[in-house]
Amino acid sequence: MNSLPIGVRLTAWYFVVLGVTLSLFGLIAYFAMRTSIHETVDEELRARTEGVRRLIQRTAKYGTEDLQRELRQHSELAEGALLQVSNEKGNWVYRSPTIGSYDISRSQETSNTPSTFEFNEVPVRLLSTKIQAEGQSYLVQVAAPLDDFYSALRHFGTLLLVSIPILLLCATAGGYWMSRRALAPVDQITQTARNISVQNLSSRLVVPKTRDELQRLSETLNSMLERLEAAFKKITQFTADASHELRTPVALMRTRAELSLRKPRSAEEYRDALAEVHSELEKTSSLVEKLMVLARADYGAETLQLATTDLAEVVREACGQGAALAESKQIEFHNQIPQQSVWIEADPHALGRLFLILIDNAVKYTPPGGRVEVAVAGENGCALGVVRDTGIGIAEEDLPHIFERFYRADKARSRESGGVGLGLSIGRWIAEAHAGTIEVQSSLGHGSVFQVRLPLANGDG
Ligand SMILES: Nc1ncnc2c1ncn2[C@@H]1O[C@H](COP(=O)(O)OP(=O)(O)O)[C@@H](O)[C@H]1O
Ligand SMILES: [Mg+2]
Repeated sequence: MNSLPIGVRLTAWYFVVLGVTLSLFGLIAYFAMRTSIHETVDEELRARTEGVRRLIQRTAKYGTEDLQRELRQHSELAEGALLQVSNEKGNWVYRSPTIGSYDISRSQETSNTPSTFEFNEVPVRLLSTKIQAEGQSYLVQVAAPLDDFYSALRHFGTLLLVSIPILLLCATAGGYWMSRRALAPVDQITQTARNISVQNLSSRLVVPKTRDELQRLSETLNSMLERLEAAFKKITQFTADASHELRTPVALMRTRAELSLRKPRSAEEYRDALAEVHSELEKTSSLVEKLMVLARADYGAETLQLATTDLAEVVREACGQGAALAESKQIEFHNQIPQQSVWIEADPHALGRLFLILIDNAVKYTPPGGRVEVAVAGENGCALGVVRDTGIGIAEEDLPHIFERFYRADKARSRESGGVGLGLSIGRWIAEAHAGTIEVQSSLGHGSVFQVRLPLANGDG
């Protein structure tokens, strides 16, 4: 059943529910009609018995003959009524003309409610009553044949038996047609969705303006396609940028090697060439490593090894490397790292990398004679790491983009200093993976401040 199309399943359910409802309706109508026939007939029988009782009690004292005459007159008034009266000895006092053909026995039990019997294969409703008058007891039996009523009832039954299946079939066919109509747009959506692939990720489903589930479904699918397209564009861009970045050092190394191999050279010259190739190779392998980190982060494979970590300790270590960098560039390097620990849940390796990226940038984008400051603090329930420099600063229009992959404010200068524009995107990923934030304030020509906020470890303030 579950493998059938929804339209068929809906119709099947509809068929079953409607079938049960109609059958119940038929049964109830049939039996209600039967009961109502009995009630009407019974009322009539009681009324007639009552009439006869009054007649007997009025006339019995004048003798049997008078009684018989009165009964005859009474029964002729109600034409076709079936009445028989017998006395205690079992002799007939009166029998209406047609009752003989039913052969109703005199030994029927008396009761207040009529019952149905078969006499000569005809269903008859019979009320037998004992009536006392003048010290005598009479058995009064009034009856009504039910055959006419029953044949009407049978007709009604047949009508139900024929019409219910026909109704059911018509309604089911209508239901199926309606469900097909209602579900037709789903087929259309399926058709279109099936044709969407990487090549035409920009195509969208037609949205039916029906303000119903189907409209919502196609709108939801379309917004999903939009997100997929954006993500796909990002990946394609990333691949293109990455290959572009890799091409430059590879071309450099190739040219250098080809030049050296063109004719025999001295050992000195070979060493120079190799040193140059080696330096390019180092840049390239650092680039490849950054690409790996980002690719693994995108894929969700780059996971953090969280441990309770002292931020002050991590930053102090990064400053060790930063100070050496700064010194080689004649840049003043200061750190204001407190003696006491600032505990956070973090991956110390990744966190160290984040601060190294910031310190490296600060030194890289600060001219000789400038100043770089690194500070750590725990404030307002979060740990704060700050890297401040008095360098070239970042232009307002570049600020929103510096965390993007491969984005460099000054392409030439950055490349020269070995940057490809991946540092801050890795940094932001690390901060966010720690449920933290990274913010920048900068003014062109005056310097920049990078602030990293991370949640403190539980209960530690
Ligand atoms: N401290 C800073 N001072 C000035 N500019 C900066 C600083 N940090 C980052 N930038 C700008 O942001 C860009 C992106 O930084 P990053 O992602 O680390 O790439 P890069 O490899 O160029 O260092 C840099 O190219 C630079 O233009
Ligand atoms: Mg950098």
